[in-house]
Amino acid sequence: MTERKFGKALIDTKTLSDRVKQLAQQISRDYEGREILAIGVLKGASIFYSDLVRQIQVPVVLDFIQVKSYAGRTSSSGEVRMIAEPEFIGDMEGRHVLIVEDIVDSGVTMRYLQKILLAKGPASLRCVTLLDKPSRRRIQVPVDYVGFTVPNVFVIGYGLDHAERYRNLPYIASLENAETNGGRGPAG
Ligand code: IMP
Ligand code: MG
Repeated sequence: MTERKFGKALIDTKTLSDRVKQLAQQISRDYEGREILAIGVLKGASIFYSDLVRQIQVPVVLDFIQVKSYAGRTSSSGEVRMIAEPEFIGDMEGRHVLIVEDIVDSGVTMRYLQKILLAKGPASLRCVTLLDKPSRRRIQVPVDYVGFTVPNVFVIGYGLDHAERYRNLPYIASLENAETNGGRGPAG
């Protein structure tokens, strides 16, 4: 329904769920016999996170961090602020920490996350991002698992926003399509 109303998706719902399942299978294999502390990056990764953790076959402890870097703009300010720290921030030693992110764009946010979490002494630190936009990278950061590589367009939906809107679209679309008709959605 929604899909028809908002026009063509860049990545449709079925493609997203198939890929999320594959990522979960790969992560489950890689972490066999271990417990994951999965740190979801709010708010953008929330939808991806909840779909992903439900498909992971090893024990997972759920935790979140909230950071902000965009402040309503479509490119990073280059400055990341922590809005809310993980509950387990003081209890990461010996844990296998997995950062769950929506998109790696300039790399500024991921670099910040890796820096502050590594300082807490986890047994391992990896990250999974639903989307990767390598054409926009300003800082080279290691990314362990990537769902999809996207072109240089601002994307919305499935957790990703523009000025806090569109997060609840059940698929990924490009903002350009959404904004050309008064913000009602791509081709809506
Ligand atoms: P970076 O610090 O530039 O890598 O950007 C990381 C954060 O910016 C992501 O976690 C997203 O929340 C947001 N972001 C980057 N690109 C997009 C986009 O195309 N759509 C929506 N949010 C984005
Ligand atoms: Mg984010």
